[in-house]
Amino acid sequence: MEYNVLKGTHDIIDVDAYNYSYIEQLLTNVANLYNFKEFRVPVIEKSELYQRGVGEGSDIVRKEMYTFEDKGSRSVSLRPEFTAGIIRSMINSKILLTNDLPIKAFYCGPVFRYERPQLGRYRQFNQFGIEIVGSNNYLRDVECIVFGYTALKMLGFKNLELRINTLGDKNSRESYKTALVKYFSKHIDNMCNDCKERLKLNPLRILDCKVIEDQEIVRGAPLIKDYLTMESKTRYENVLNALDTLGIVYYEDDTLVRGLDYYSETVFEFHYTSDNGNNYGAIGAGGHYADLVKELGGPQLSGVGLSFGIERLFNVLKDNDLLQKNPKIDLYIAPVGEVDLNYIMSVVYTIRSNGYSCEFNIESKSITSSIKKAIRANANYLLIIGEDEIKNGIFTLKNLETQEQLDIYEPDLINVLDQLYEESEHVHSHESSEENN
Ligand code: HAM
Repeated sequence: MEYNVLKGTHDIIDVDAYNYSYIEQLLTNVANLYNFKEFRVPVIEKSELYQRGVGEGSDIVRKEMYTFEDKGSRSVSLRPEFTAGIIRSMINSKILLTNDLPIKAFYCGPVFRYERPQLGRYRQFNQFGIEIVGSNNYLRDVECIVFGYTALKMLGFKNLELRINTLGDKNSRESYKTALVKYFSKHIDNMCNDCKERLKLNPLRILDCKVIEDQEIVRGAPLIKDYLTMESKTRYENVLNALDTLGIVYYEDDTLVRGLDYYSETVFEFHYTSDNGNNYGAIGAGGHYADLVKELGGPQLSGVGLSFGIERLFNVLKDNDLLQKNPKIDLYIAPVGEVDLNYIMSVVYTIRSNGYSCEFNIESKSITSSIKKAIRANANYLLIIGEDEIKNGIFTLKNLETQEQLDIYEPDLINVLDQLYEESEHVHSHESSEENN
């Protein structure tokens, strides 16, 4: 019996996992530059948190949550997103009352949505995100967008597409909803069952409908920009002006409404089409939320946030050859002939204890096998230790790139490695400073 992963889930192993860590570390480094602090919240929460937070009208809550009763008959759900849990943690910890505002959080981890798996769409996937809570200043919206833009640029993305829209404040949305109900009521008999339900729960969601025939009707629907209050209009213009000042190119998309119910004012998504034409949907998305904190039992404070889908970032980077191929190791140790393997083990131990990564071949004592394995392991150097070497106390170190060989007196091994790495770092930094000139 062979066990396979569940549909929509996937293993991330070896070089791929190395690259996931690389992406997450780079995003963490950028988050640190922006003074975000890490928050870790549970994968499992009361279902009600998401029903209230993400919204009863959203597809996520209606159809996609992994919800079940635990052994204490409580309804619990695997997190379908982070924002609600992060806000809950801020409220529970009272950090919003005791610390300087805004609170700036970053987070990373798996999320679960029971969606139909397809290109770039999984049932368990990973998100990296940020939330800025406790400020209503439009520049915090801009800061989130700039964070996303900078991080994607640093990962190597070139032709980014930033889509942006405003959903206005409560008053804007109320009059917009009235206009939508009026418009869609005329067409609803010809629309899908989901849309019939959306009309009752949250007519804005109809704009997101993926049914082709319904999209035709959606194209004729009123636009939010015609229902904005003066304040919302000005706020949105301020956001766009700030992006212009920063030279960040955006595309105003007045059909962008997002799939979660908590948004107001600015909403945005980052899109990217790979060189080979693959389009995985939004690689990151977010927006402003005015009432979520209050809705979840906290003070009346606004927030804004953004989450990246790490799988989608990974896929696009892979398509465009922007990932690390195979991580390097410093040394590969080749025991040759009848040597004492405990002695080899002690050399390996010394090398690793001095901060050099290494692997050794105790499975074979053939030099040909060791060379092949060293190349596959992407080692910088091969260290040959044979009977004669042990007798004379002299090892042979071979640079696998230049093929240069060096005899090293055993007690000098670490000093020689230190020198070689210092020299190669010097050459690299010299080369990169010449490249920059
Ligand atoms: P979201 O748009 O639902 O927003 O998800 C954010 C990102 O997660 C998407 O842009 C996409 O890259 C990735 N993603 C979503 N669904 C899947 C899937 N099934 N498979 C793979 N990747 C996926 C949120 O989750 C909000 N919490 C974002 C936010 C933070 N808004 C304010 N703060």
